[in-house]
Amino acid sequence: MIKEKDIEELFEELLSKISDSELRKKVVNVWVKACERGGWKTVEELKNIPFTLLTDSRDINLIEHTIAVTEGALGLGKAQTKNYAEPPYKINFDRLIAGGLLHDVGKLLEITPDNKGGYRKSRSGRCARHPISGAILVAESGLPDEIVNIVACHAKEGEGRPQTVETVLIHQADFSTFNPLVMLQKGELILEE
Ligand SMILES: [Fe+2]
Repeated sequence: MIKEKDIEELFEELLSKISDSELRKKVVNVWVKACERGGWKTVEELKNIPFTLLTDSRDINLIEHTIAVTEGALGLGKAQTKNYAEPPYKINFDRLIAGGLLHDVGKLLEITPDNKGGYRKSRSGRCARHPISGAILVAESGLPDEIVNIVACHAKEGEGRPQTVETVLIHQADFSTFNPLVMLQKGELILEE
């Protein structure tokens, strides 16, 4: 069984940057709950889940992806706060990190082993994609509506919808990891020679 301690170790560095200890605990609890519901039992299993089924994930797993997206969004947010003399909006960094760590937590319900050594979309994932199942998990666990917005609206479900600035930053960081892989598969990514 995957416990709080396992999740704390996986995301140690980013969790330590969340100043609100209650929020930090809730983030960890959502991951534990999602592992339980998705039937994931060990950290090894977690580290093998591909971050996407929509294109060749090139062995980038869901944990690596979650950390890369959260760090990327943090960089985007800091670039604005550092360089704008008069920022037109505030960026809530606790919310940004918590939302980054949770943006794809619904994939623990959406993806399942195919019993042939690979992975496939689960029945639950066919009923509700990860932004929806993730948003439900996050809301159930008492996280604020703004974090529900990050999870619910970080992907195509959020197109044209009202979003917090943290949602925008997570969306951009997420697609900056996804689009190059899609382009790579189509032969459209210009590579170093
Ligand atoms: Fe993602």
